[in-house]
Amino acid sequence: MKKNMLTVKNLTAGIPGQEIIKNMNLEIGYGEIHVIMGPNGSGKSTLANVLMNNPAYQVTQGDILLDGESILEDTTDKRAKKGLFMSFQNPVEVPGLTVENFLRASYQEVKDSNIGYLDFHDKLLDYADILEMDEKYLDRYLNEGFSGGEKKKNEILQLLTLDPKFAILDETDSGLDVDAVRVVSKGIEEFLTEEKSVLIITHHNEILSNIPIDQVHVVMNGQIVKNGDGSLIHDIEKRGFAWIKDEVENQ
Ligand SMILES: Nc1ncnc2c1ncn2[C@@H]1O[C@H](COP(=O)(O)OP(=O)(O)OP(=O)(O)O)[C@@H](O)[C@H]1O
Ligand SMILES: [Mg+2]
Repeated sequence: MKKNMLTVKNLTAGIPGQEIIKNMNLEIGYGEIHVIMGPNGSGKSTLANVLMNNPAYQVTQGDILLDGESILEDTTDKRAKKGLFMSFQNPVEVPGLTVENFLRASYQEVKDSNIGYLDFHDKLLDYADILEMDEKYLDRYLNEGFSGGEKKKNEILQLLTLDPKFAILDETDSGLDVDAVRVVSKGIEEFLTEEKSVLIITHHNEILSNIPIDQVHVVMNGQIVKNGDGSLIHDIEKRGFAWIKDEVENQ
C-alpha cells in the first residue's frame, strides 16, 4: 500500500495551558488536495502552524509524519527542506529585505542551490507574469505597504518559486477581489502536479472552482468533526456550520 504524504496521528497541540488541536487525525495521500473549513477560532491556522513547527505552539500528544517518517523533532527550516510549505493568513512585513532577495535566499536555503542571479530573476519574472504582478514588486521590501491582495499574491509567488511537495495554504483568498481570486487560483493550478499534495484552508469556494478537491474536512473546536467530498463546500456555503454542529451534538 502506498503510504501517505502527510499523516497527522492523534495530534494534540496548543499553547502552554491550552489545548487548541485535540486528538486530530488526518491522512493526505500523494497528489491529493484537501480542504479544511471551519468556524473562526476553531483551530485551522493553529494546525497549519503546528505542521510547520511554529515555536509558539507545542505538541503534547501524537505525531506528524511526512513520507511515513516522523517530522516532530524537525525545525521549521528542516521541514521546509523536506518539502513543506505554508502560506500565511497574515503575512509579515520585513522592511529592508526586498521580495527578490528574500525569495532567492529562501530558494537557496530550501533547495541547497546556488542558482545564478539572472536565471533566478528570469524564473521570478515568469511567475510574476502568471500572477499578473508588476515586476516592480520584486524590488519592494517584503510585504511592506502591500495591500491585502498583494500580500496574498506574494505568498503564491513564494509557493511557485520554492515549488514544495506539500503546500499548506491558509486563507490565501481572504480579502481578494474577484479578479485576484482567479489569478491566485491560476497560480495554485500552475503549482499542481500529480505528485504534489495541498491542504487549503478557506472560508470560500471561489478559489477552488478550478481545483480538483479530493476531500473536505470540517474542524470545530480543534477536532475534525466531518469529512466529505467537494460538495460539502457548497453545503457549507449555503447552510453555514450550524447543521454540522447539530449533527455532532446529536451523535
Ligand atoms: N498564539 C496564540 N496565543 C493565544 N491564543 C491562540 C494562539 N493561537 C491560537 N490561539 C487561539 O486558538 C483558537 C484557534 O485559533 P486559530 O487561529 O487556529 O483559528 P482559525 O480556525 O484559524 O480561525 P479563523 O477562521 O478566524 O482564521 C482561537 O481561539 C485563538 O484565539
Ligand atoms: Mg485562521
